[in-house]
Amino acid sequence: NETHTSLIMIFGATGDLAKRKLYPSLFHLYRKGKLADKFAIIGTARSPWTHEEFRANVKDSVLTALGSNEQIDDFASHFYYQPHDVTDSESYIKLRNLAGELDSKYELQGNRIFYLAMAPEFFGTIADHLKSDGLTETEGFKRLIIEKPFGHDLESAEKLNAQIRQSFAEEEIYRIDHYLGKAMVQNIEVIRFANAFFEPLWNHRYISNIQITSSEKLGVEERARYYEKSGALRDMVQNHMLQMVALLAMEPPIRLSTDEIRSEKVKVFRALRPIEGEEVNNYFVRGQYGPGSIDGEKVEGYRNELNVDPQSNTETFVAGKLMIDNFRWAGVPFYIRTGKRMTAKSTKIVVQFKDIPMNLYKNNHDQLNPNLLVIHIQPDEGITLHLNAKKSGQNMQTNPVKLNFSNEGSNGINTPEAYEKLLYDCLQGDATNFTHWDEVALSWRFVDKISEVWENTTSSTFPNYSSGSMGPDDADKLVEKDGFFWWNVTDLDVEDCK
Ligand code: BG6
Repeated sequence: NETHTSLIMIFGATGDLAKRKLYPSLFHLYRKGKLADKFAIIGTARSPWTHEEFRANVKDSVLTALGSNEQIDDFASHFYYQPHDVTDSESYIKLRNLAGELDSKYELQGNRIFYLAMAPEFFGTIADHLKSDGLTETEGFKRLIIEKPFGHDLESAEKLNAQIRQSFAEEEIYRIDHYLGKAMVQNIEVIRFANAFFEPLWNHRYISNIQITSSEKLGVEERARYYEKSGALRDMVQNHMLQMVALLAMEPPIRLSTDEIRSEKVKVFRALRPIEGEEVNNYFVRGQYGPGSIDGEKVEGYRNELNVDPQSNTETFVAGKLMIDNFRWAGVPFYIRTGKRMTAKSTKIVVQFKDIPMNLYKNNHDQLNPNLLVIHIQPDEGITLHLNAKKSGQNMQTNPVKLNFSNEGSNGINTPEAYEKLLYDCLQGDATNFTHWDEVALSWRFVDKISEVWENTTSSTFPNYSSGSMGPDDADKLVEKDGFFWWNVTDLDVEDCK
């Protein structure tokens, strides 16, 4: 397929993301024949590597991630390296010349993808230089893939966007949210719009609440310099969590085009009730992990981590209640919860249906379990439907049962696969699973109001949850005061439902 022909230029080629995600994903695409023979990759970063050193690193990262070496030499031969100073025009001119040479060598038709996988403070500068030093003057397509964070708040995001838009049109900008590349996140739409029985029930009449939990066992690792200024709200909620909310809440698009889907998502963000001022404490809970144990191993609290301020007020956990003020969702809380150093690495969506009008079985059974639709995003991928059925035996006793679909062929934690999908989409020119500027702007607007309040009030209770737990007690109270409770993600595994 000709559309796969492209030069991909990776800024930040020696970095962690490139090694862990991009090279293994590109290799997968290559092995599946989705990159054709006509592709070349230029890696750039400050290190003075040679092409050969770069190729050795690429091979190494593919072997580490995938344990495969078939065809690896041929794959790596498409990689070229150019040491680079992001603020220096001469560097860009060298890059332009190398790009020109590779264009002819591999017959790339002038198609170029620029992938910014590096420190966000340089995103704008790089975009400027790409234009002013002539790299975007090309006969083929030009596309910019930009990693998160896209700004630190609405103001900085607007500034960054304005700067990038000097060099790239909106439809040429691919803002990554890697959750949108996850198989089961993409499945949300299919579950909703390809089945007869969910859509009629998918509203305030039949759904009592929706819960999205994305918990991690890892701590801040080596990313404290970034994370200290970000915290869980900016790191996870502004992007991944709100994107999942939008996919769950949006109206059916009139067709599956990028514009139609994005515009339905934007409407959800517009309907999201702003939470500000004193309301923040009624709707949002923040937490910070203290010492504790993960899988039986003792771990330090956040404030003792490398490069973290011993008095840090940064949240590593957020729980929130979102209300979407439109006809479909009036009165239905969307609870979200995400944090580091929690009990399990797990992302799950639980759609809880309202109770039936009356319980005919209450003589035998005090209470019927509510029906649940659980979408398992990771590490297991699948769908379970929780129903009530008759217990075998003489009496009309009920018994909770689970119907289970396990997404076969998934490879557990599917992040490399997410990047693979997103890279492929970008090569195809399909921006559906990337975030449009309007979505970014509206989600920052929502999140800014919360961080404003939190930044102006230091938390006297941090740390307020132990590593290895499911977050602070206040997160439970947030849901309990509405008469609900968090469904326990570790009880809901697909495996347990078989
Ligand atoms: C990233 C955040 O966007 O998502 C990280 O910056 C977080 O802090 C990661 O760990 C989680 O992604 P995944 O795919 O492992 O759930």
